[in-house]
Amino acid sequence: MSDVKKIAVLPGDGIGPEIIAEARKVLELVGEKTGTAFEFTEGLIGGAAIDATGNPFPEETQELVKASDAVMLGAVGGPKWEGLDYAIRPERGLLGLRATLGAFANLRPAKIYDELVDASTLKKEVIEGVDIMVVRELTGGIYFGEPKGVEVLADGSKKGFNTLVYTTPEIERIAKIAFDVARQRGRKVCSVDKANVLECTELWRDVVTDVHKDYKDVELSHMYVDNAAMQLIRNPKQFDVIVTTNMFGDILSDAASMLTGSIGMLPSASMGGMVGIYEPIHGSAPDIAGQGKANPIATIMSAAMMLKYAFAMDDAYDDIDNAVIAVLGKGFRTPDIMQEGGTEVTCSKMGELILNELT
Ligand code: IPM
Ligand code: MG
Repeated sequence: MSDVKKIAVLPGDGIGPEIIAEARKVLELVGEKTGTAFEFTEGLIGGAAIDATGNPFPEETQELVKASDAVMLGAVGGPKWEGLDYAIRPERGLLGLRATLGAFANLRPAKIYDELVDASTLKKEVIEGVDIMVVRELTGGIYFGEPKGVEVLADGSKKGFNTLVYTTPEIERIAKIAFDVARQRGRKVCSVDKANVLECTELWRDVVTDVHKDYKDVELSHMYVDNAAMQLIRNPKQFDVIVTTNMFGDILSDAASMLTGSIGMLPSASMGGMVGIYEPIHGSAPDIAGQGKANPIATIMSAAMMLKYAFAMDDAYDDIDNAVIAVLGKGFRTPDIMQEGGTEVTCSKMGELILNELT
């Protein structure tokens, strides 16, 4: 890596540009404060890319991300592009990005800030102290399995199909990441599958159990996904690290986000490939786009994860986390986490408040 740290910025659609603008300002400030040279290059992805080029993940963006040290992404998708063929939908751009970079390990931390325990729809005693890391497999499973498609049958009716597929090496590598992450935390891994019904996830369970032989200092448990969904709401504090398939991870991380007050709070880092991708777990929220209602914290914390994981700037991560805590502590809230007695602020105001704390 040269002295200049090259960051590809892909705002995408909906609220993407608004939240990315705030995260970028935070990175610029960190760059100034620490004397780190960040070079930002914007690229097109998702619906914005479709509108400009007809392709949700254009060649130019592919070259850009491959030549970068880290990728910061907003969100993709929206009703405008929903009628398009699957192969050229905005979501394909995001999946293409993940696959191209080989970012197979998606870390989604769901940690509740004390300041927000009353903002959740769940009871305080259930969520206080929640600190879960969802390790979602990101480049395999039913999202990518072949064959897939929709066929017209002889009688004119249709058949739609996707394939859930995992190989031993794919499961081994994500399991290792989960155990390694657990060693830095509470040393507990819960592997989530549907091994009672799906053969593919029975293999998942067997391989995770095998990999665990090298991690005897970490406690391993297995849970069926339906039960895991229930346990996340019933007693989330039982979880430390959850490792699971691409689709189960997609669903469970949205559920886990509500433990923290709002899906607008959850950042993520996708690693294991040639370049890491840092993005909030939420979508493009077209219903509130352009109205200043979005919560930039998930994206700002994704930028913080970038500093920590891509550039080993752990102090900068802590500074940003503390700035967020300070702003929440003063009662400032975007609409998604608004509480009685709080001061409602816009997306850009929230970004500015966090910047002020950092300065
Ligand atoms: C996520 C999103 C994406 C996914 C969509 C936008 C393709 O829901 O990152 O969780 O399903 O992975
Ligand atoms: Mg999702």
